[in-house]
Amino acid sequence: METNWTRLVTVRELGRRRKLRVEVGDTAVALFQADDRIYAFRDLCIHQDRSLAKGTLLHGRVICPGHQWAFDLDTGYEEDQDLCQPTYAVKVEDDVVYVDLTRSPDYAETATSPAEVD
Ligand code: FES
Repeated sequence: METNWTRLVTVRELGRRRKLRVEVGDTAVALFQADDRIYAFRDLCIHQDRSLAKGTLLHGRVICPGHQWAFDLDTGYEEDQDLCQPTYAVKVEDDVVYVDLTRSPDYAETATSPAEVD
């Protein structure tokens, strides 16, 4: 399968804040780090385009700062609305985070050890 991995930031750069907005071409991407995983979401909320990178990480979800919709980090699913925020495939190689906007997440590739996060 053809992939389109784009180099974004190091795990260390993301790790300080656990949230980061990056641009990939014309697409704003919100990166999140929770536990030992890194997640990539389309940054602009599907509701009214607020930046999810300015949201709050809580219990495996990102809470939008606009109207508090809560998107599951694994799936992008918002249970109360029965809607999904677009999410993207992430991989980490040599402490560098890559995203592929053409692929859905495969979280088997995203795990990082705590040692890598320090
Ligand atoms: S803009 Fe995200 S919940 Fe309204």
